[in-house]
Amino acid sequence: MKGRSFAMKNLTTAELRELYLRFFRERGHAVISSASLVPENDPTALFTMAGMHPLVPYLLGAKHPAGNRLADVQKCVRTGDIDEVGDASHCTFFEMLGNWSLGDYFKKEAIAWSWEFLTGAEWLGIDPDKLYFTCFAGEEGLPRDVEAHDRWVEMGVDPSHIFYLGREHNWWGPAGQTGPCGPDTEMFIDTGKDPCGENCFPGCHCGKYLEIWNDVFMQYNKTADGRYEPLAQKNVDTGMGLERTVATLQGVGSVYDTDAFTGILARISELSGKHYGDSPEVTKAFRIIADHIRTAAFMLGDPRGVTPSNVDQGYILRRIIRRALRYAMQLGMPEMSLSKVAGAVVDTYGSVYPELVENSARIASELDAEETKFQRTLTHGMKEFERIKGGFKDGVIDGRSAFRLFDTFGFPIEFTEEMAKENGLAVDVNGFREAFAEHQAKSKAGAEQKFKGGLADASVETARLHTATHLLQAALRRVLNDENVAQRGSNITAERLRFDFSFPRKVTPEELREVEKLVNEAIAADVPITCEEMTVPEAKAKGAIGLFESKYGEKVKVYTMGDFSCEICGGPHAQRTGELGVFKIKKEEASSSGVRRIKAVLE
Ligand code: ALA
Repeated sequence: MKGRSFAMKNLTTAELRELYLRFFRERGHAVISSASLVPENDPTALFTMAGMHPLVPYLLGAKHPAGNRLADVQKCVRTGDIDEVGDASHCTFFEMLGNWSLGDYFKKEAIAWSWEFLTGAEWLGIDPDKLYFTCFAGEEGLPRDVEAHDRWVEMGVDPSHIFYLGREHNWWGPAGQTGPCGPDTEMFIDTGKDPCGENCFPGCHCGKYLEIWNDVFMQYNKTADGRYEPLAQKNVDTGMGLERTVATLQGVGSVYDTDAFTGILARISELSGKHYGDSPEVTKAFRIIADHIRTAAFMLGDPRGVTPSNVDQGYILRRIIRRALRYAMQLGMPEMSLSKVAGAVVDTYGSVYPELVENSARIASELDAEETKFQRTLTHGMKEFERIKGGFKDGVIDGRSAFRLFDTFGFPIEFTEEMAKENGLAVDVNGFREAFAEHQAKSKAGAEQKFKGGLADASVETARLHTATHLLQAALRRVLNDENVAQRGSNITAERLRFDFSFPRKVTPEELREVEKLVNEAIAADVPITCEEMTVPEAKAKGAIGLFESKYGEKVKVYTMGDFSCEICGGPHAQRTGELGVFKIKKEEASSSGVRRIKAVLE
């Protein structure tokens, strides 16, 4: 490396996407399309949180139709810290660049390619002096990853730039759950800020070192009894944060100052008459609105479009929209502004994610509808406030009452504080926080489970229920005589399947009986379930239904069950329909406007 001077590339978001994919395409990787933001048939996660998430069946050994070297840009949502968004680097939506080896290459090649892409003059051209690396130190009988460390040294990295850290930092895999996992090696860029203290290190969160890439070496499978057994197939799973890396290359201090946000922030400025950077409060409000509406637009515009509601994905979406609304009001934006901000998101991302353009009308109308609902909620909250405001002891609104306004009336604490002030009252904000924390603690166990997990449970029961979901969709199309019946959501737990589909009215009891009968006939026919790999045009010609997500011409899997069902899908499936047992519909109800929901079981 001596004697070479490094000129870091200044790339736009679009250029980095292209460069990354080209690098790995030239090294034998098939570029695959981003999967939906909503994982299918995975009860452990509400949203796709990493590039590896949709690939779990292949990491466990299923054959991927595009081959065993893959690269992609995956849409991801992580909302665990939704209330902290607004700083320089947190986003609820982000794009993850990734390259995968499914039982093909391992540490040696993965590290050499990461190094070449980061530092190569033709690629990012980052000065090695600015790069820092961490490797797994070994813990609980799991060995230290000396191989990764030594490989970095072979690349020319100064050992003082490599840190061994424990599981908390350098292990990727399910927390307390089963599935593929292993040590990782993470790549950081020194931002040039002063260290936070003597013990500052890559992985400490003070902001000096920014993690931009992670190579995970999935070499174990965690079993149900907590053992780590070596995987027959060793995989590489990598993730580079697109927004963060672009911020680094563009030399700006925050992801919000990259080209990805320029158009969105400008739209907020036009609508509010304020300017990003006017004051710390205004900057924070701009960032929150930009982040949340970007996320909301991707959720609403997803092929498995999410709709605001009080449960699951819909609830997260509702919270995101309402939080953005609150900041829009703070900036004095006129009513129905958020749908216009979403328009800027569609303009920015539409050429890469055409689903946003296709669903742009839905994105706008759902945002407007949610805004109208929120206004109504606020009106009710204000009435309730007027009703109770005279009854407080010593002019202080106690924590429980403030929490009730929040929980039952959707009245944000900031609103309660403002209303209190106008009425010469105070609010016990600490009491509110305690009531809130107590409530969180009660409801968290369940929700947390969903966020932290992320690994599909490929048990036999899931496969059976998933197969039944295909039969259900096929039967619904026949009985309702409607080609437009399309999947809008699917969720499977150990006990039941749940299927959401577009249909304009209630399904009658007679129709439901007919659907049940058709599914049970298909089960009784005991036909084999076959899987073929083909391109999307071939699948369309064959009459397959499902999400046509492939945009690079890569192959997809098509599952066929006799002449009853033919669908693009990733699995898992039973071998024959006869394995399913007796299919029973338990419930039919509205899920949201124009979407029906069926819950069914196999007995
Ligand atoms: N799966 C790894 C991550 O998300 C690459 O960081």
